[in-house]
Amino acid sequence: MTAADLVQRADSITTAGRDAVASASSLDELTEVERAFLGKSSPLNEIRESIKSVDGRDRATVGKAVSSARAALEAAVAERRVVLEAEAAAASATRDRLDLTIRGRDYVRGHLHPVTRIWRELEDVFVGMGYQVAEGPEVELDWYNFEALNFPPGHPARAMQDTLYVRLGRREEVLLRTHTSPVQIRVMEAQRPPIYTVMPGRVFRRDTLDARHSPVFHQIEGLAVDRGITLGDLLGTIEAFIHALFGSDIRARFLPSFFPFTEPSVEFAMSCVFCRGEGCTVCSRTGWIELGGAGMVDPNVFAAVDIDPETYTGFAFGFGIDRVVQLMYGVDHVKNLWDGDARFARQF
Ligand code: DAH
Repeated sequence: MTAADLVQRADSITTAGRDAVASASSLDELTEVERAFLGKSSPLNEIRESIKSVDGRDRATVGKAVSSARAALEAAVAERRVVLEAEAAAASATRDRLDLTIRGRDYVRGHLHPVTRIWRELEDVFVGMGYQVAEGPEVELDWYNFEALNFPPGHPARAMQDTLYVRLGRREEVLLRTHTSPVQIRVMEAQRPPIYTVMPGRVFRRDTLDARHSPVFHQIEGLAVDRGITLGDLLGTIEAFIHALFGSDIRARFLPSFFPFTEPSVEFAMSCVFCRGEGCTVCSRTGWIELGGAGMVDPNVFAAVDIDPETYTGFAFGFGIDRVVQLMYGVDHVKNLWDGDARFARQF
């Protein structure tokens, strides 16, 4: 080939190389192009090899053409590399970006079960009146649940509380407590008067489930033992807690009743919170809602715990917490309270 041919080839290689550089779309492709046009076995190197075959005075011309072709291509590659590196950096910045605006995991914040809430509210009301809070066992001895409360074996009042017995000890000696009243005995055993204590807890009866009865339910018991406690104190205390819980326009009513462990005994009711005493379906048109039982502690109960009934008198009361919850929240069936259905619980 003549020198002129070689110079021309160098020029066309430059043009082709520039095109290839321009169309390289990644750093890898650019490296490929660089190797092909500037590497050891590139056409430009071949031209340099063939300088030997050119006339002496033309060699410099061809040499210059190859050098300027190399220089032009090197510059094009370098320029393109800067662009491609910037693009690659931008792409990885997007790809590897931490999206700090993404939401965290949602944790649903729950709340107390309505029965737990009223349980605690009742405790608060009585603590506010100077009472202490005590709890007793759910699996109880016949002695505490009945006998010490003046229900002797075979006493007909035992039949009022359908009992669930546990196969432990002597026959019918161990049972699931049917009320919170046995905690009165435990408190009086553990402590001498003055006693002002409320005793909330879970109780059990062999009852068939219906809208207002469940075999498992909750009661709160109250006990005050001191010098000079009267029935008037009992009535005033019950009225005070009804006012605290339901409002001062709600009235308390007492009817004579019977419980083995109190004498005299009463049942207490409050005027209906829904119809304000007018009569509605909740209060069965009576205007009153039965809450629980109460009375003056029977001297036989004091004898069981060795408290002198000549020195001390006392009153006791007990009522269902679940009933109060049903009333306050208008829960028509008790089973709704314990089904464990979150859709129900979320309403409160
Ligand atoms: N323990 C009784 C019941 O479950 C309720 C009760 C009545 C409790 C009179 C008392 C009371 O403390 O004096 O039916």
